[in-house]
Amino acid sequence: MQKEVFVSEFIERVSKELKLPKRIRIFDTTLRDGEQTPGVSLTPDQKILIARQLDKLGVDTIEAGFPMVSEGERKAIKAIAGAGLDAEICALARCVKEDIDAALDCDVDCVHIFIATSDIHLKHKLKLSREEALARAVEWVEYAKKHGVVVEFSAEDATRTNLEFLKQVYQAVVKAGANRINVPDTVGCITPRGMNYLISQLKQAVRVPISVHCHNDFGLAVSNSLAGVEAGAEQVHVTVNGLGERAGNASLEEAVMGLRALYGVKPRIKTELLVETSDLVERLTGVMVPPNKAIVGDNAFAHEAGIHVHGVLEFAGTYEPLSPELVGHHRRLVLGKHAGARSVNEQLKDLGVEVGKEQLLEITKRVKELGDKGKVVTDTDLRAIAESVLGTLPPEEKVVELKEITVLTGSTVTPTASVRVTVRGGERAGSGTGVGPVDAAINAIRNVMKEISALRLKEYHLDAITGGSDALAEVTVKLEDDKGNLYIAKGVREDVVIASVDAMINGINRYFAGRK
Ligand code: KIV
Ligand code: ZN
Repeated sequence: MQKEVFVSEFIERVSKELKLPKRIRIFDTTLRDGEQTPGVSLTPDQKILIARQLDKLGVDTIEAGFPMVSEGERKAIKAIAGAGLDAEICALARCVKEDIDAALDCDVDCVHIFIATSDIHLKHKLKLSREEALARAVEWVEYAKKHGVVVEFSAEDATRTNLEFLKQVYQAVVKAGANRINVPDTVGCITPRGMNYLISQLKQAVRVPISVHCHNDFGLAVSNSLAGVEAGAEQVHVTVNGLGERAGNASLEEAVMGLRALYGVKPRIKTELLVETSDLVERLTGVMVPPNKAIVGDNAFAHEAGIHVHGVLEFAGTYEPLSPELVGHHRRLVLGKHAGARSVNEQLKDLGVEVGKEQLLEITKRVKELGDKGKVVTDTDLRAIAESVLGTLPPEEKVVELKEITVLTGSTVTPTASVRVTVRGGERAGSGTGVGPVDAAINAIRNVMKEISALRLKEYHLDAITGGSDALAEVTVKLEDDKGNLYIAKGVREDVVIASVDAMINGINRYFAGRK
């Protein structure tokens, strides 16, 4: 298995100036902040399934939930705490006795205690003075510590808190026994530089490990988390797929791969399980991962443009900074209007189809035609196009070629088709009517080619290859000559009439070439 990373060499130059911790703890809050995603509610059984997966993935801490939320939540947290997992199991609690007792009752290893410290929250939400908030924080950290658990303390809305007061709070809770302090960017309103400054300041104020908890309101959650690490934070709070309140939290997969590939810091995570974990969380929460999501999205390792596909096939590092296997993903070459002959050929080879140069060019042309109409060509589409093209004769052997077809149909007119074809290079035009547009088109061809009067349409078969009204239509015709020889041919287009005419012309060419 190829596992490689190809990133910018400038990183090394600037990273030399950083004093990065050797290891970063991954504190996963998918089951707490992630479950606060609007519309998400997990059953205890689903929470246990996710916790087991997170443990298998190798996160250091699983924040299993907020016990005060409900009876089901307490049941799930208790079950996770008793499941014999390797990860530290944590529960969230406000600075209130009932919350902390409920967390302790769940037998967790760690209680994550929080109180808001910003003036906005103190004034409008808690209606407390700074001094009262600080006193509560100390009181409940001491209380939890007395019960022998690890305590992580969060100053909610830390990034909008007065810096001197914030330092005072963190110093006081550390004195009261807090093992780690967490710095929440509760409304995702800091910048990477701001976070770097804040963590640098806090590093000088406290000696316990510092954690960052970033929300994604400005799409900066991962950048801000990494900026915190650059300043010395030893832990990041993350959620799978970036779930969480409003725009979500820092995404686990992005933060972990950023740390590993861009900073050379290795969390304990088994990165090859990232996609599997993302899939499970997507399925159980019902929150779909956007295709363009970094690391785990369907398109994260998909290439369509001919130039890119060419590059990737020569050397993956040209357009893949990470090898997909490293995160449990796979490379996908997508065929559409940007496809080049090389990617079409690769896809054909994957399907076990071999084609010649001329045929490859014709297949690529048809793939691009479909792409221009807004379609992505699936494997089934490609196979059908290839079969259709392979069923045709090389250009020099083509006796008949379709140049143009127009069809008029409707409920009040007789379906009529006009065709223009070349027969051995000479142009002919004519028309025909029929019971429907396909019949009219086939009759038009017959009318301009008297030399096929002995050729009978014995069978006509139409299949929609993929779903939808814009699906590719595959038409198979069986023609029979006056000696009973059969000529089978196919046509594949999105337009049923053109697919039928293609099939018919392919069959006629086979007849002229004496090929069955
Ligand atoms: O975003 C936040 O401030 C939180 C706290 C409870 C840590 O989730
Ligand atoms: Zn949060």
